[in-house]
Amino acid sequence: MSKKDVIAEAKGKLGFLTPGMGAVATTTYAGILSIQKGISPPIGSLTQMGHIRIGDRSDDDQPLIKDFVPLADLNDIVFGGWDPIDDNAYEAAVRAGVLEPHHLQPIREELENIKPMSAVFEQSWVKNLEGSNTKKGVNKLDLAEQLMEDMEQFKKTHNCDRLVIVWCGSTEAHQEIQEVHKSLEAFENGLKNNDPNISPSQIYAYAAISKEIPFANGAPNLSVDIPAIFEYAEKNNVPIAGKDFKTGQTLLKTILAPGFKSRLLGLNGWFSTNILGNRDGEVLDDPDSFKSKEVSKLGVLETILQPDKYPDLYKDLYHKVRINYYPPRRDNKEGWDNIDIFGWMQYPMQIKIDFLCRDSILAAPIVLDLALFMDLAKRNNQKGVQEWLSFYFKSPQTSNNLMPENDLFIQQTKLKNTLRVWMGEEPITHYENN
Ligand SMILES: NC(=O)c1ccc[n+]([C@@H]2O[C@H](COP(=O)([O-])OP(=O)(O)OC[C@H]3O[C@@H](n4cnc5c(N)ncnc54)[C@H](O)[C@@H]3O)[C@@H](O)[C@H]2O)c1
Repeated sequence: MSKKDVIAEAKGKLGFLTPGMGAVATTTYAGILSIQKGISPPIGSLTQMGHIRIGDRSDDDQPLIKDFVPLADLNDIVFGGWDPIDDNAYEAAVRAGVLEPHHLQPIREELENIKPMSAVFEQSWVKNLEGSNTKKGVNKLDLAEQLMEDMEQFKKTHNCDRLVIVWCGSTEAHQEIQEVHKSLEAFENGLKNNDPNISPSQIYAYAAISKEIPFANGAPNLSVDIPAIFEYAEKNNVPIAGKDFKTGQTLLKTILAPGFKSRLLGLNGWFSTNILGNRDGEVLDDPDSFKSKEVSKLGVLETILQPDKYPDLYKDLYHKVRINYYPPRRDNKEGWDNIDIFGWMQYPMQIKIDFLCRDSILAAPIVLDLALFMDLAKRNNQKGVQEWLSFYFKSPQTSNNLMPENDLFIQQTKLKNTLRVWMGEEPITHYENN
């Protein structure tokens, strides 16, 4: 029996829930609704546009990924979400200012029907945000149970076969792992005792896993990256993934740095600065939220360049990342990079990049792919951290304290080989004719 036979079919509706209904989430919903109506092509989405080679090069067999693995059909997706701000998805999309009115009008009614469920929210975790559409509970366990009830209700009301959750909420303040995060038992006691170290995103994650719903985290805060949640995900057979969508400047970094390293070019400085004017930029203007982002952005070069193995090339690298909140630019970020490299006989060279990017336009296809691949993983009985989805994250989670893989091209190979193996095909090694 090939492996394909054990992946459960994608039948019925897939409820796609996002804690957070801001710029990224509404751009994702709007794009998928436009694709459903045949208005836009799914640009940037590997699940929709990507091909995968099967067998040797001489076989010339390269189906679309969506024809190779049994993914949910986009027409079977139903959206929902939670947000402490009471705007429906149309109002939130207008406020986010990512999409032009002529793109929103044809899907206005569908977006207006997506109304946020009340959120589990604590302002201490996102200082620059105020919201009134929030849940009240006697303790954090009660809040988690209310979220579980929302999930159940959503599934029933929309007649869904399955649910999947992708965190698109604001970046929470930076935190290190605390005692309460170290085991499921400690975490569950912490929920009952209102432990202040349990953040809202962790409460959503706990509720999702209790309901056996796959959960991916698009923000840099810990969320599902704690031992208690690993333990719970293993116990309940639930796939989890994170963290921090890899878009914009970090995407470019993980494209360029592997290139420098493969040619053994040295690097002694990489200065990255951004201006960003959306609500995410405003939230990141708070030093505690920025700290979460900074940790996630800084990590990538270290693991790609391996300064311990290549001290002559990378041990003196000075890496700096700045994010500046600058409202006039809204979601249209501008990121500058100055890269100081050196070559033969240590002669210095410089590269300057000016990336005028659109954050949510880059993030939306990632959110879609994560939802579809996490749903696939669940139907293939996968559990715990889905390392094969590192491709989508700035700061990929790993299991068993393994070193993360940040090189975009290795990540892509890993993702595709995982799909090949799941479908009973040979992984591609690129050896000889392969
Ligand atoms: N756009 C990108 O390229 C990109 C890349 C990497 C990561 N991210 C992360 O994705 C997340 C979303 O980005 P965005 O641009 O949509 O931000 P946004 O500010 O437009 O939207 C975030 C939404 O989350 C809501 N929220 C905050 N706390 C919540 C809670 N506890 N429960 C439910 N909702 C909550 C906010 O009210 C807001 O509507 C951020 O954490 C951001 O750092 C975005």
